[in-house]
Amino acid sequence: MAPMRSALSMSALTFVLVLGGGAPALAAEDAVHIKYRQKVMTGVGADMGAISDILKNGLPYTAAIALHADRLGDSAALIPTAFSKNVSTGATDAKPEIWQKADEFERAIQALEDAADDLEEAADDEEPAAIAKAFKTLGKACGGCHDTFRKPKEESYKNQ
Ligand code: HEC
Repeated sequence: MAPMRSALSMSALTFVLVLGGGAPALAAEDAVHIKYRQKVMTGVGADMGAISDILKNGLPYTAAIALHADRLGDSAALIPTAFSKNVSTGATDAKPEIWQKADEFERAIQALEDAADDLEEAADDEEPAAIAKAFKTLGKACGGCHDTFRKPKEESYKNQ
């Protein structure tokens, strides 16, 4: 009888371990997707902030604007993968609309890429008026996506 009982309690233990370990493991998996995509977006924010500093402070770094814009174009190409996992709960500002309106989200990514290309071209041409205009359009590409697909500041995970 003794071996039987020990086999039983062993499978009961396994059951508890699987159940107990499974749920947190899933949450942890979601969290790493969120962390990665927020890093991609933080990079986008850093390049945008750097361009803004150059323009606002009149730094003579026009060639750097072209490089930052080029990086923003590359970042746009990272966004589809970064948001491929449908996770809109937890420490994230991503709204479920990203996965409900996937076509619209894709267009918002395209708008970012196009605006970044235009800014890169304007900076290559060293055309201040065209740079200012392209920068404004780029800002609208950020806002256009955030308005629909990112939780408003008041609801941000950063306030939790
Ligand atoms: C295609 C949609 C889209 C575009 C375009 C976009 N963003 Fe975002 N951004 C998001 C979403 C969605 C989040 C929320 C991600 C999360 O919390 O999981 C976000 C988050 C961020 C964050 C916060 C990251 C963090 O650590 O929480 C910054 C900064 C940011 N975006 C800057 C920008 C800037 C600057 C631009 C334009 C140059 C831009 N974004 C363009 C969708 C977009």
